[in-house]
Amino acid sequence: MSRILGVGIATLDIINRVADYPTEDSEVRVLSQRVCRGGNATNTLTVLSQAHQCSWAGVWVDEPDGQRILEDLQAHQIDVQHCRILPQGKMPTSYICLNQSNGSRTIVHHRDLPELSIADFQAIDLSAFDWVHLEGRNIPDTLKMLHHIKQQQPQLPVSLEVEKPRDDIERLFSIPDVLLFSRHFVQHQGFSSAKAFFTAIHQQAPQAMLFCAWGEQGAYAVQKPLSRVLHAPAYPPAQVVDTLGAGDTFNAAVIHGLLQGRTTSDILQTACRLAGEKCGCLGFDGVHFT
Ligand code: FRU
Repeated sequence: MSRILGVGIATLDIINRVADYPTEDSEVRVLSQRVCRGGNATNTLTVLSQAHQCSWAGVWVDEPDGQRILEDLQAHQIDVQHCRILPQGKMPTSYICLNQSNGSRTIVHHRDLPELSIADFQAIDLSAFDWVHLEGRNIPDTLKMLHHIKQQQPQLPVSLEVEKPRDDIERLFSIPDVLLFSRHFVQHQGFSSAKAFFTAIHQQAPQAMLFCAWGEQGAYAVQKPLSRVLHAPAYPPAQVVDTLGAGDTFNAAVIHGLLQGRTTSDILQTACRLAGEKCGCLGFDGVHFT
């Protein structure tokens, strides 16, 4: 069991399951509604919590939705002592359309909350952790956090999720040991394959292992940007039920596999299997490391 610090967000997810994606300016009735905790970093920690001791560092608001989110984190034994607590405000909220016909999830996100700052992060004793995972957001402070980790604990492995295109996000690439890219990000950069993208970012991230999940086409990885690109196929479930958080699950499986010292190709396969398993069930409780 390793000690993992996850830095990023927790959200309230209001998930409306619909028969088909609605057309604009129409009115549809949902098949069912589920309200639960979400957010990339905390989703990843939730999956990791089945095998590791996890801590979340993020901004938490003391309001009813915050309480609901806290209950879920506590149910997964995720420690929240490193969070910044705000007495007032609103937890970030995602209004999600889950299309039953193909499992796609469309997210409308509301956020009106300060980000975790470098000052908040510097107060954390990093020697208490075996791994730090960060979301690629709040770029100026995240850059400082990455530098801080490498100054304070040079041996502490760090992974960074790069899911959404954000101004200057490439400034973060030269520090983490592991970069976890989304297909959306790679395509937004103008690349039609993970392989071409990995080759192109070699100079920006020569130190990092690179991973990229590519939906129904599986996932790709390289040990170091110029080494051979590995591929593993997707493991589609019998029925796609819920793709929300499949990428977060993939990231958790990669971190778990690296902590266990497994080979990159084994990690890639296991991460695809777990992400597939996630798509076949609602939420994260049916997702198990083997
Ligand atoms: C899924 C997710 C949701 C959340 C949204 C935030 O990856 O973390 O749980 O609402 O993305 O961007």
